[in-house]
Amino acid sequence: MKTLLQLSVIAVLLWGCSKGTSNPDKAAATEAAFAKYPESQGKTVYRQNCNKCHGYKWPETRTAEKWPGIIDRMARKAKLTDDQKAAVLDFVKTNAKAS
Ligand code: HEC
Repeated sequence: MKTLLQLSVIAVLLWGCSKGTSNPDKAAATEAAFAKYPESQGKTVYRQNCNKCHGYKWPETRTAEKWPGIIDRMARKAKLTDDQKAAVLDFVKTNAKAS
């Protein structure tokens, strides 16, 4: 009985960690995360470009002081235009961690 319980816990954990865009819970969580931010050009650029290589690194996970250096690197990786880069930087700084 105990083993069965442990197995189901492991199964649930594995299922919860499984990645993929087809996971409806994850899609809903992403949707909810984006709903917090007001619409802006930067939000759109971020949404379209910043989860290609890794999951979204949300604005509030870094401070406004940290973001410019990161966006310098990431804009190059994502091949953003100068306008797109400025818009994304504005978006992440506006929603950044307080300190
Ligand atoms: C072409 C792939 C690629 C794209 C597109 C990309 N990244 Fe990254 N990102 C990486 C890699 C690789 C790393 C880890 C190495 C590093 O930090 O440079 C990383 C790391 C990061 C980190 C952690 C860096 C730190 O110092 O804490 C953040 C934050 C981040 N990316 C944000 C973004 C944002 C915002 C965008 C959209 C503008 C973006 N990334 C687009 C590849 C990418």
